[in-house]
Amino acid sequence: MSIPDITLNDDHTIPQLGFGVFKVDPGETERIVSDALEAGYRHIDTAAVYRNEEGVGRAIAASGIPRDELFVTTKLWNSEQGTDSTRAALATSLETLGLDHVDLYLIHWPRPDLDRYVASWQTLEELRGEGLTRSIGVSNFHRPHLERLLAETDTVPAVNQIELHPAFAQRELRAFGEGHGIRTEAWGPLGQGKYDLFGEQAVQAAASAHGATPAQVVIRWHLQHGIIVFPKSSTRERIAENIDVFGFELTADEMAAIDALDRGLRVGADPDTATF
Ligand SMILES: NC(=O)c1ccc[n+]([C@@H]2O[C@H](COP(=O)([O-])OP(=O)(O)OC[C@H]3O[C@@H](n4cnc5c(N)ncnc54)[C@H](OP(=O)(O)O)[C@@H]3O)[C@@H](O)[C@H]2O)c1
Repeated sequence: MSIPDITLNDDHTIPQLGFGVFKVDPGETERIVSDALEAGYRHIDTAAVYRNEEGVGRAIAASGIPRDELFVTTKLWNSEQGTDSTRAALATSLETLGLDHVDLYLIHWPRPDLDRYVASWQTLEELRGEGLTRSIGVSNFHRPHLERLLAETDTVPAVNQIELHPAFAQRELRAFGEGHGIRTEAWGPLGQGKYDLFGEQAVQAAASAHGATPAQVVIRWHLQHGIIVFPKSSTRERIAENIDVFGFELTADEMAAIDALDRGLRVGADPDTATF
């Protein structure tokens, strides 16, 4: 099994398949992330607001895996947006993770009502210059939010991490990002289990054709679209299942059938109006 690397617009690379830890219980995070590292994941996606950075850091320390073989993402929470507060938030995250840098630091949500994401972004640029994060990016940014960063700042985000799954495929936002060198990362890649994605006929048919599970088919769909993806599971068997996706390939017809499931079905909050 070999996980492909994607080269970002700053020439750093990111493993295309990683492991997400949203809603992983802080008390269980070290064990679960240790399982993921043992299964072969080398890219972990956490956030300050998940309250489990400490467990992520402990699993990394216990693994003995060289730091330069790991890719760690964390995110700036909305209440910390601003200049000094952004700087302090990354310092706290690094201390909690027990790391001297992360590989990718993201603005978690634009919160356009606060009007602080441009100032936050300029601070991320400085923090990158200081080596505290290798790459910088955004999450849940819509086109107008990206356009402001492009117009008012010096750095194009390396990634935009957005809700993305077959029922909410975000084609226009993906195309806009790709046109500007911004790679797309999918959150909720399995639809967070909030609707029956795995029961869809197109997913079921591809799963039987390849002797794969529906989750593996959906992860392949992301990978074959060039999307960076990090499914979450707290279950050892599913952690192993979700990385075992390099032994088959979906055909063009299977990809098209899964593409046809897009119906604009968002399972999370709308970034234009979210106020948390
Ligand atoms: N930037 C943001 O705003 C944002 C928002 C949400 C998430 N994220 C990131 O994206 C990552 C992934 O998204 P997500 O965790 O929200 O949702 P997800 O990965 O789409 O779905 C996770 C759900 O799918 C289940 N699952 C996982 N593998 C499965 C399998 N093989 N078969 C059946 N069910 C399976 C999990 O259950 P079990 O755990 O019981 O296996 C869990 O209930 C997060 O962990 C986080 O790192 C970012």
